[in-house]
Amino acid sequence: MPQKKVSPIKTVVVYPGTFDPVTNGHLDIVTRARRLFGSVIIAIGADSPKVLLFSSEERLRLIEEALSESSLSESVRVEIFNGLLVDYLKRLGAKVVIRGLRFISDYEFELQMALINRHLNDEMDTIYMMPDERHIHISSTIVKEIARLGRDPYEFVPRAVVRALRAKYGQSG
Ligand code: COA
Repeated sequence: MPQKKVSPIKTVVVYPGTFDPVTNGHLDIVTRARRLFGSVIIAIGADSPKVLLFSSEERLRLIEEALSESSLSESVRVEIFNGLLVDYLKRLGAKVVIRGLRFISDYEFELQMALINRHLNDEMDTIYMMPDERHIHISSTIVKEIARLGRDPYEFVPRAVVRALRAKYGQSG
């Protein structure tokens, strides 16, 4: 029987987050998603309920610098979005969201988010990816805490972020 032809997947994949700031764990997810889907849009939520250290524009610039430091710029686009994630996806014509899943404690929040988003737009789905175990314990909050208390978190974040944290916390380095 002749083999049925399968056309290559062309999916717009969105990796949303607050990225305050971007960490090596986030970049690990970007690397994996790009490998699977060919390209990724990193979407920075501008209306986060969190108390943020970096403005949306600063977070965007840091991600772009981090991508070029790690040769990830190709096929990865960074955007800021306002409002609901589902509405942003509609504007893009995207249906697939990528999220990183680290601990079981992430699961409850992620399940709630995925179900709420699906309720708001039944056409979208969320795909979860596990970061490398080297990055499993990293979070943006922990990185900021280390920097605030006087140490460079250089094992956990790109160099551009180390520089930006030094500038925010007034360390000359
Ligand atoms: N490596 C390292 N850290 C990771 C990680 C990974 N692979 N994946 C997640 N994290 C950490 C982040 O550093 C962050 O840590 P922090 O809490 O210390 O800052 C935490 O896990 C989760 O943050 P993040 O992944 O940035 O996402 P978020 O939970 O802040 O969600 C949006 C951000 C933008 C996706 C979400 O708020 C959103 O969709 N907003 C738009 C409004 C909307 O539609 N809301 C839903 C319906 S009401």
